[in-house]
Amino acid sequence: MAELNSVKTKVNIGTQAADAKRQTIIQEDKEIVFQSNNFNLWYGDNHALQDINLTFHENDINAIIGPSGCGKSTFVKSLNRMTELVPIVRTEGDIQFRGDDIFTSGMSVEELRTRVGMVFQKPNPFPKSIYDNVAYGPRVHGIKKKSVLDEVVEKSLRSASIWDEVKDRLNDNADGLSGGQQQRICIARALAVEPEVILMDEPTSALDPISTTKIEDLMQELKKDYSIIIVTHNMQQAARVSDRTSFFYQGYVVESDDTNVIFENPSDKRTEDYVSGRFG
Ligand SMILES: Nc1ncnc2c1ncn2[C@@H]1O[C@H](COP(=O)(O)OP(=O)(O)OP(=O)(O)O)[C@@H](O)[C@H]1O
Ligand SMILES: [Mg+2]
Repeated sequence: MAELNSVKTKVNIGTQAADAKRQTIIQEDKEIVFQSNNFNLWYGDNHALQDINLTFHENDINAIIGPSGCGKSTFVKSLNRMTELVPIVRTEGDIQFRGDDIFTSGMSVEELRTRVGMVFQKPNPFPKSIYDNVAYGPRVHGIKKKSVLDEVVEKSLRSASIWDEVKDRLNDNADGLSGGQQQRICIARALAVEPEVILMDEPTSALDPISTTKIEDLMQELKKDYSIIIVTHNMQQAARVSDRTSFFYQGYVVESDDTNVIFENPSDKRTEDYVSGRFG
């Protein structure tokens, strides 16, 4: 009997070891969502992004940090081709989204922006009802049936952790909500078209600490289904929420690594100085 137990234990240990190994392989095999290769961007003569080589994986929260004017917003906006709206912009190099070049693969800008949603620094709900804000994207995509829209609106508001706060006032104007609530409505609006990636440019910098915590908790939930790329000036936030961190400085990437490496053992002195608050 004792022998049998010992065999069982061995088998269990064997299974655990196999599970752990499998887990590691899954980590290593996380699909690449975005990859930029020697990506450069100019605003006229201003060389704002220089040879950016970065890779972002599925189910990761990726923080982008760096001093003001170093190109964080420009890079994030490049990922869904929003920088094209500025006429003086010129680019070189490429950005791959799930293996397709976002500029040359023939993927339309509309499709790219549906698959890669964006949430901005200042909550920007449309001057419409809460319901219409969230139903906006699905309606643009041709969904008209009320029961389907109702379902999408509820699901998106639930995913953005705001359903309970607004379920009895869906027809109220979104302007009447607090800043933190408006930001979660904007997240729900982004989720309603079922994107694969969510870009967030300083999504909590205009919010109070409680709303900030809510959005950070929400990001942990969302990363189970999405890849998140977040620009933040808040070092504690980057350290708290992200899996990977890229440090931008004067238009280029100084260092990109696991977040704990960037914060605890960076290889570049400038990264160390920046994360410890010595400049920026
Ligand atoms: N629309 C624009 N037209 C011309 N130049 C621009 C434009 N947007 C940004 N720039 C320039 O590009 C550079 C990078 O700006 P960007 O907004 O990407 O910086 P950032 O890192 O996001 O800064 P911050 O932390 O202040 O938001 C800066 O020199 C900026 O002046
Ligand atoms: Mg910015």
